[in-house]
Amino acid sequence: MGIEEAKKAAAIAAADFIQNGMIVGLGTGSTANFFIEALADRVKSGLDLKGVVPSSKATQELAFRLNLPVQDINHVPRIDITVDGADEIDPLKRMIKGGGGALLREKILASNSKEMIVIVDETKIVQNLGAHKLPVEILFYGSPATRHKLETLGYRGRWRMTDEGAFFFTENANLILDIAFEAPPVYPEEDHEQISHVPGVIETGFFFNLAGRVIVGYQNGRVDIRQ
Ligand code: 5RP
Repeated sequence: MGIEEAKKAAAIAAADFIQNGMIVGLGTGSTANFFIEALADRVKSGLDLKGVVPSSKATQELAFRLNLPVQDINHVPRIDITVDGADEIDPLKRMIKGGGGALLREKILASNSKEMIVIVDETKIVQNLGAHKLPVEILFYGSPATRHKLETLGYRGRWRMTDEGAFFFTENANLILDIAFEAPPVYPEEDHEQISHVPGVIETGFFFNLAGRVIVGYQNGRVDIRQ
């Protein structure tokens, strides 16, 4: 087994927690895609979902293709469970997310769900957050000034670019600044506060107090469910 199988094992285990009548938030990324496929298999076997709410166009397209009952976030009262991946998760279930650039919508879904189930392979488990760059979504208007302000506070990063060398724009028409930490942040909550207070910052990829159950898939085939 490899990493892909470990992601898939976690995703399949998460699909077992979905029940009839639920509205399910769908994350973005390769692990979330495995979950969407596992969920579609369950629907084919008779699971009766009230709806699914995607966090990105890619997720929405996959959900449509697999005939899941896609609903608009603006038309659902509340989400029962959101299932999403992560770039890093620590023992306190604090996360860095946004590798796929969908952090803002992912956070909106997670924050408006009764539970967020996080699905990861073993490589995402860390003792301290910060080896992965922290994606920060930034308004295009005044973005050089916003970046400069962040630099004066000690947060250095690079604009995310596309493979073609253009600026990467999120689905909300914002930029992503990937901030690199020289050492693991001791109090990531304080970094989140400081960064978030800079005008022009829309959202950081720190996710705190959002993860419920964390399902970890291992390359040896084991799946661990942390309550
Ligand atoms: C997208 C995310 C993803 O959940 C995160 O990047 C993990 O992706 P993958 O499951 O492909 O490893 O936050 O914005």
